[in-house]
Amino acid sequence: MAVSHRSGILAYILEYMTQIRIFTGYFVFVVSTTGDGDPPDTAQKFVRKIKNKSLPHNHFFHLHYALLALGDTNYANFCNGGKTIDSRLQQLGAKHFYATGHADDGTGLEVVVDPWIEGLWDALKKTFSSMATSDQQDTDLSDCTQDNFHKNASGQEKNKSDLEVDLHLLKLSETDSQKGKAITSDSIDVETLSTVLAASLKQSVPPLSESALNVPALPASYLEVCLEQETVPSDKDSYHEVSISKAVQLTQDDAVKTAISLELDISEQNLAYQPGDAFDILCPNRASEVKELLLRLDLQTQKNGAVQVNLLKNSSKKAAKIPLHIPQNGSLQFILTWCLEIRSAPKKAFVRALADFTQNSSEKRRLLELCSKDGSADYNSFVRDANVCLLDLLRAFPSCLPPLSLLFEHLPKLQPRAYSAASSSLQHPGKVNFVFNVVEFPARPEHPARTGLCTGWLAGHVSSILRPLGTVPASERLGTSALPKVSTLNGSKCHLQVHVRPRPSSTFHLPADPSVPVVMVGPGTGVAPFIGFLQQREKEREANQEATFGEMWLFFGCRHKDKDFLFREELERFAHNGTLSNLIVCFSRDEPDAAGTVNRPTYVQHNLSLHAKNVASILLKDKGSLYVCGDAKNMAKDVNDTLLEIIGNELQIDKLDAMKTVAGLREEKRYLQDIWS
Ligand code: 2AM
Repeated sequence: MAVSHRSGILAYILEYMTQIRIFTGYFVFVVSTTGDGDPPDTAQKFVRKIKNKSLPHNHFFHLHYALLALGDTNYANFCNGGKTIDSRLQQLGAKHFYATGHADDGTGLEVVVDPWIEGLWDALKKTFSSMATSDQQDTDLSDCTQDNFHKNASGQEKNKSDLEVDLHLLKLSETDSQKGKAITSDSIDVETLSTVLAASLKQSVPPLSESALNVPALPASYLEVCLEQETVPSDKDSYHEVSISKAVQLTQDDAVKTAISLELDISEQNLAYQPGDAFDILCPNRASEVKELLLRLDLQTQKNGAVQVNLLKNSSKKAAKIPLHIPQNGSLQFILTWCLEIRSAPKKAFVRALADFTQNSSEKRRLLELCSKDGSADYNSFVRDANVCLLDLLRAFPSCLPPLSLLFEHLPKLQPRAYSAASSSLQHPGKVNFVFNVVEFPARPEHPARTGLCTGWLAGHVSSILRPLGTVPASERLGTSALPKVSTLNGSKCHLQVHVRPRPSSTFHLPADPSVPVVMVGPGTGVAPFIGFLQQREKEREANQEATFGEMWLFFGCRHKDKDFLFREELERFAHNGTLSNLIVCFSRDEPDAAGTVNRPTYVQHNLSLHAKNVASILLKDKGSLYVCGDAKNMAKDVNDTLLEIIGNELQIDKLDAMKTVAGLREEKRYLQDIWS
């Protein structure tokens, strides 16, 4: 059995699959889910093409595939990205050679991914063996082993059968983001899948060089790993360098969380966006962590700085196997700063690989325990839930000294973080606003206290130039002294240049017809896109006073009226001038007043219940839209449950029928979510 592979990038193969009616080939799809159960951006074109109604029902008759769908049960439409592609391929006659896997990031992708990968190898062997049998009855199938499979592939030996097999691994995923929480193949699957698959196929290859400078080829020696060309972080074509024109602290200093609003000046770049759209922000790893990592890996001397690598020069032809997101002539400092997610929790496959480079036997045993089949709970509590990163592991296991090649193989690509615009360009031409809570990870035995990579980086740059409300001239003020502390950029300029790029436009937009009423639910920083919606509507109302505008209801919630009521003054203005028909706010942690009523209702969904009649009427009678933005894990789920109750009560139907009605709203894009966990 000889195995051939067709080189090319994902786009080429997808083009090929959709244009050529009959083809042979074995495909492994790894598909993430994003947004409202949508396939990721990189798969959009492919999905559009296979959904084309003019395709004959047997279009993919000759396609055999396995599919790993990734999702998160914290979101509606679990694994829907993969399910959409899977069911359409089936409709078009494609056949599974292995059962589809549905991995849940809510409980740990590995739980499904690890056994799925293990089974995939057996399924491939079985498939190719049976093909050999049917094509060449005299083939000695005892030769069809992993070993031979590889030897044949690498051309070192020839098997008796020369059946040609195309095997492709397709990664359909997109950037991991704080917002929208796309479950990506970068987060576990493709790295693990390609590594494990390829590693199992290459058992007989002599060990790769372990020299840190001699970057070895990644082990995808003949299993073609078709990664769509991803934009490297330094790619100036897709990112724009913009400056921060204003920074405002929206919360009081004694609030539990610090919320900051940043205004970016995008006038020179002419970046267009609609309220509801989001922007990617690319942020570098912390210089101190990069330095510590280089020192720890013996790749930097205190005196001479990081060792320079020229991957192209050092690895000649093998350079082609270096992941696309690692520039071949970048310095190590650059690669670790801009290209690799060094803060990510090492996946089990990485932990397993690290064990191979650990001298001390008890440390090695502990690492192997963590990544063992039975060690999932242990791994989850020690690594995943503790937000442990590579550097933390290296600190905890001092005898572990992995080569650079291992990092390149296992550290995911550094992903940009997505933030929803909290402004309308009608109201702020040439500007875009973002709001975020500064993420804080408290100190743990495994690591010191630290802030989130991007939010901490942004906050660190603006905090020194924020000034307290008292010193801000009234004309510049966003609040009064009774409101949460509001600070703004202190005349001095913020020199931080931020790399941004608009994300592809989503469906999270105001209805095209302004007379359609809307209900917006956005506690905490979830209010961000609604500030954009409301600014837009305010301007539209000013411009066209004759037009009919639908009602706008906003359900907002925060902890304390005087500490974290974000955008209070602006929201009250919208309510006052009629842009907002109803501003309904709750405070989850304010003390009850003497009558015990102040802190009731506590959460946005309690207020939705109190206004059930209006909400139901807007959605069911007036064909209005419901928008939910914010926390996916608890809030969005609870709001969804409340919606089911409201609709069930209103229509006097049981839960199942209410679920169908709500699914219908989603389908019609009248129930839209922009949620993250
Ligand atoms: P809490 O932190 O006091 O529990 C913005 O974060 C607001 O959302 C806070 O007031 C927070 O309350 C509240 N919140 C927390 N869990 C929620 C849930 N399951 N549903 C709705 N709001 C929630």
